[in-house]
Amino acid sequence: MSFTIAIDGPAAAGKGTISKAVAAHFGFGHLDTGLLYRAVGAKTLDGTDPIEAARALVAEDLENDALRTPEVAQAASKVAVIPDVRAALVDFQRAFARRAGGAVLDGRDIGTVICPEAEAKLFVTASAEVRAERRFLELEAKGLEVSREQVLADVIERDQRDRERAEAPLVAAEDAVEIDTSNLSIEAAVAQAVAAVEARK
Ligand code: C5P
Repeated sequence: MSFTIAIDGPAAAGKGTISKAVAAHFGFGHLDTGLLYRAVGAKTLDGTDPIEAARALVAEDLENDALRTPEVAQAASKVAVIPDVRAALVDFQRAFARRAGGAVLDGRDIGTVICPEAEAKLFVTASAEVRAERRFLELEAKGLEVSREQVLADVIERDQRDRERAEAPLVAAEDAVEIDTSNLSIEAAVAQAVAAVEARK
């Protein structure tokens, strides 16, 4: 039997951490759909056409540590506005969502476009300042040379592009449970997420 949990929200709100923990809690598979757009974005940095890159994407492309850089994040949000890129990535995501044993997908449009029938939907948010600080610490820990100001500017720019695009913009599904992680510990955020899913079981 399949059970799909859709987790959406802006950059660095805590979706990834919550999704991994929720998937582990229920013994479900987890797909970080941002990696699909990052993999396409990364290919465009070499000059590849984004629509061709999206159509040629394979699962192995997602296992690349170089996808986690700020440059690739910006490239991802630029290719994510292209309707044909999004369309090329739908089947992969829906197939994962229907896998036996349950699935957690996190992204921007999972509850609204990819899996509107998901059994449980969460929308994870936090203030732009809190999100930028978390992303800054993450990038710094990886040894990347970034400034707080630049990370905040990048987060704001990417959110704006994600929210204002015509195709599948970042917006909470009407039936999503909202979790604001600005003042929550990881444990408290995960506990809220697990409780929200339990309520739909
Ligand atoms: O979640 P992450 O920051 O890795 O996503 C990178 C970019 O990919 C986002 O800024 C967004 O533009 C795009 N994306 C999307 N739809 C998704 C997941 C990510 O448009 N479901």
